[in-house]
Amino acid sequence: MNKSLRRAVIAGNWKMNETRAEAKALLEEMVPSILNADCDIVFCVPYTNLETVADMTRVTRIKVGAENVHYASSGAFTGEISAEMLCELGVRYVIVGHSERRRFYGDTDETVNLRAKATINAGMTAIICVGEMLSEREHGVTNEVVAMQTKIALEGIKQESMKNVIIAYEPVWAIGTGRTPTVQQANDVCKLIRNTVADLYDQATADSLTILYGGSMNPKNCEELLSEPDIDGGLIGGSSLKADEFSAIVAVASRLGYGKDAPKAEGE
Ligand code: 13P
Repeated sequence: MNKSLRRAVIAGNWKMNETRAEAKALLEEMVPSILNADCDIVFCVPYTNLETVADMTRVTRIKVGAENVHYASSGAFTGEISAEMLCELGVRYVIVGHSERRRFYGDTDETVNLRAKATINAGMTAIICVGEMLSEREHGVTNEVVAMQTKIALEGIKQESMKNVIIAYEPVWAIGTGRTPTVQQANDVCKLIRNTVADLYDQATADSLTILYGGSMNPKNCEELLSEPDIDGGLIGGSSLKADEFSAIVAVASRLGYGKDAPKAEGE
C-alpha cells in the first residue's frame, strides 16, 4: 500500500511541561516555522494549556490534543476531565494509554479501550499508545504484548470509526532514554500492528490506518524512521519542547512528502 494514501502525522506530547507563559513563548517561536508543513501537526498538551494552544493555532492547520481523558461522560470523578469538556475547547485528538499513564496511574488495556471509545464517541481522534517493556522485548514476547494491547484497545470500535484512530508504537524502554530500536525493529512492530488491524477488520482499514513511532525520535534519527513503509509519523516527547528540533522533524516529514493523497480529515 502506498504511504501517500495515509495521513502523515507529527504529534508532540508535551507531558507535564510548560506553564501557560512558557507555552505561549514556545508557540510563538515554533508556529511560524511549521505553518506551511505538508503533514498533519498535533500538539498534545497539559489540560491547562489547551485553550491557549487552541487560541494561538486557530487560523492554522495545527491541531490541539489532550494527553488523557476520562471514559465516563460525567459524574463523581474528582479531578478528571471528560471527552465533551475537551471537545468544547477545540481539542481534536487525545492520547490514550500512554505508558506513563499505564505505569504511574493504573491504566489497563481495558481502561485504554474505554478511553478510546469515549474519545471517538465525542468525535475526536484517539492516539492509542502500545508498546513493550524492556523485559518483554528481552523475553521475546514483544509481538504478543503489542498484538494483545492493540486488540483489547480496539474492542467494540466499529470499522467506520477507525478513521478516528491512530496507533502509536512506543517501546517503553525507548521513551526519554535516547535509545531507539533499529528502524527494522520499529517497522516490524508497526507492521505487526497493521496486520493485527487487518485481522480484526479488513485489509483496507489496515492500509489506511496511520501508525506513529514514538520513543527518542529526534531530528537526527527521524528521517530513517519516517522512511520505513509502515511508520506514518511520530509521537514526540523531548524534541517537541524545542522549537528548532520539532520544526526540523516536521520539515523532514514534509520533505518525504507522503500522506499527500490521503483523504482530508473532517473540518479541512
Ligand atoms: P521522548 O520523545 O521524550 O522519548 O518521548 C516519547 C513519548 O513518550 C511520546 O509520547
